[in-house]
Amino acid sequence: MSSLKDLFNPSGIAVVGASKDPTKIGHLVLRNIVEYGFKGRVYPVNPTATEILGLKSYPAVSTISDKVDVIVVSVPNVKVLDVIDDAGKAGVKHAVVITSGFKEIGNVELENELVQRARKYGMRVLGPNIFGYVYTPVRLNATFGPRDVIPGNVAFITQSGALGIALMGSTIQEGIGISAIVSVGNKADIDDADLLEFFDEDPNTSVVLIYMEGVNNGRRFVEVASKISMRKPVIVIKSGRTEAGARAAASHTGSLAGNILIYETAFRQSGVLSVKSVEEAFDFVKTLSWNPVPTGDRVVVITNGGGAGVQASDTLADDGIFLEKPPQDFVEELRKVLPPFASLANPVDLTGMAPEDWYYMSVKLALQNPQIDAILVLYCHTALTSPIGVAKAVARAIEETKISKPISVAMIGGPDAYEAMRYLTTLRIPAYPTPERAAHALAALLKYRKGREYLVKRISKKQ
Ligand code: ACO
Repeated sequence: MSSLKDLFNPSGIAVVGASKDPTKIGHLVLRNIVEYGFKGRVYPVNPTATEILGLKSYPAVSTISDKVDVIVVSVPNVKVLDVIDDAGKAGVKHAVVITSGFKEIGNVELENELVQRARKYGMRVLGPNIFGYVYTPVRLNATFGPRDVIPGNVAFITQSGALGIALMGSTIQEGIGISAIVSVGNKADIDDADLLEFFDEDPNTSVVLIYMEGVNNGRRFVEVASKISMRKPVIVIKSGRTEAGARAAASHTGSLAGNILIYETAFRQSGVLSVKSVEEAFDFVKTLSWNPVPTGDRVVVITNGGGAGVQASDTLADDGIFLEKPPQDFVEELRKVLPPFASLANPVDLTGMAPEDWYYMSVKLALQNPQIDAILVLYCHTALTSPIGVAKAVARAIEETKISKPISVAMIGGPDAYEAMRYLTTLRIPAYPTPERAAHALAALLKYRKGREYLVKRISKKQ
């Protein structure tokens, strides 16, 4: 059982540095906890206030008579050690330290002392220099970021605070459902490996996304990442890839970004999917969190545009996925329902005059065929057929067959295609504005499957 269980499922949480002043971080964190609907007990801690946001306020954690599992600390750096002592003596086991002004500005001694003090009390520290954390299964949003995070199955660990907060907002915009968001900042104590151990056991999480500048203990990361990757995909945006980026990381969280080739090798060995950009990461997250993992990598592409099909085929090939001839029985079934001028190869080209129904029938047949592992649907907006009609046809085929098979859709065109893409997203059917992005995301899922197979073989050989 992960030692972080109570961090994510606290029965009582105290905000130390809670304030009535609505511009202060301590106020905003408390407000988010209350307004997002945390299910446990909440205690503001402030030296002078008697009540904040309608809750009774306490002068110190040690004056709270009920059990407090977590303190969220938002007092200036020079006051943090006293807060740790007070809470540690009161038996608190987790401190979430939002405060900046530690290793990232060269204040290494203060950071070391923070960890030493906490250890004395058997307390784990998240941070310092963070925006807090979210765990949606218990409606806990202890951050000063956006409040209305969409509950779901993706855990997001971020070493960057500002980028992390911005991405919290992007997950809402993109319709990505979140189980947890954890700002790790300087990673003085709790690090990626600790969190991966928790998320491995967490039934509410099925995909983990990490924004990483550096890792403290590479060997342990590889060990833990390999273990979780056998069950759940881990996607990493490794920043500080270049010399300029590494310099920026050093002054941001005090991290050593290290040699990117070493990181890439470690990621490959541990089955981690490495991405370069936020856009790529979110694309992967959608396909990996909304689809099952396939048993093979036989992809069928269904398109109304030859060019889109060629682009998708190239992208898949670049990612090591090569299209094979579609299964004979699938072709025969298609022949019965499509006109003679449709091209029944792979990609299946429905031609530019394809109505919604041709999409519906081909997707349905592909879903029903056991020799097809994954489906890529491409639609180029024509005056003949509405994008929303095609999106609904794809959704109907899935709904009627009740077959859960990896699928990725590209809705290529103007505002109507964009609306159709959004519609599919609300149904948790991954949809993208270009054939390349749809193909690349689907390839990530297939790559994960292969990596997982390799890990299982490697580990069973060792045993
Ligand atoms: N126990 C409880 N409350 C205390 C204590 C104590 N020991 N000491 C002080 N307080 C109270 C203060 O009285 C104040 O409440 P008040 O408004 O009622 O007077 C409250 O705690 C906050 O203290 P302030 O001195 O007003 O500090 P302020 O809120 O201005 O700043 C903060 C504190 C936010 C922690 C600041 O020092 C800091 O580190 N800011 C940067 C935070 C940050 O950016 N973190 C990284 C995030 S990631 C990103 O980049 C987005």
